[in-house]
Amino acid sequence: MEFEALLTALLCVLQLSLGIYGFNVDIGSAVVYDGPAKSEYFGYSVALHSHQNKFWVIVGAPLSNVTNALDASDTLTRYGAVYKCQYTGSKTPCKVINIDNRPVNRDLVTLNNVPNVWVDLEEKSGQWLGGTVHSTGTNGKALVQLCASRYIYRGRPPSPDQDLQYRWLLGKCFLISGDLSVTTAHREPCFLESKGNNHYGYCQAGFSAEYTVDGYDVIMGTVGVKRWKGIHFAYVCWLWDGAVAYIVSACTPDQAVGFKSWLRLCS
Ligand SMILES: *[C@@H]1O[C@H](CO)[C@@H](O)[C@H](O)[C@H]1NC(C)=O
Repeated sequence: MEFEALLTALLCVLQLSLGIYGFNVDIGSAVVYDGPAKSEYFGYSVALHSHQNKFWVIVGAPLSNVTNALDASDTLTRYGAVYKCQYTGSKTPCKVINIDNRPVNRDLVTLNNVPNVWVDLEEKSGQWLGGTVHSTGTNGKALVQLCASRYIYRGRPPSPDQDLQYRWLLGKCFLISGDLSVTTAHREPCFLESKGNNHYGYCQAGFSAEYTVDGYDVIMGTVGVKRWKGIHFAYVCWLWDGAVAYIVSACTPDQAVGFKSWLRLCS
């Protein structure tokens, strides 16, 4: 007790001798970005980003409607969107970053013994694209990761004589070029894994996501893995004889859940 009192007194003396400063947030000259038409939940996630002396606020709006890339008169409902709002010192409209603006993949299958039935192989409405956004910020090659943690993969029906098609809540992330113009890669760590709730069927990859400080490695939370125990996926990339490779490793504080790692080529 005496020690704590002494420590408190010492800290007080230290703070007083160094000085304590307060400041107000500058609301007088703030730059305000409004959510564009079709956007919803604009500002749910935010990241600051810069590239070659241009500065942006990247804003996620995970319940936004999106214009169909194949048909400008069509709206894709609640896909989620990410906007780039350039900081020029004055008010500039935010522009959508085109990441996922295509209709879902479909296929002709036999379902319940009926041949040639069109089924959706995935679900993107409600996928929460832009629920997580991350930028390495201001370094020489700033990197951006945008995630849709509620993306659902359905795949083909497992049996042609049943009326069954699964819904796997896999989640996925997109890596975007520093100038925010193109998607450079997808990260869908649970896609090739065993599905089911005991395994990787409900990953929700991208529930959280970051790059490491050097910008090579991608880390993402996959909270639904193994009966919602959750793990982290780390995509570790490095340059190796001109080829880029990565190890995907999944580690968990609960060792009973298991640990795995393997090597693949970066896409
Ligand atoms: C998105 O589309 C749906 C269905 O057309 C509509 O009900 C909703 O108002 C739209 N939302 C926005 C923000 O435009």
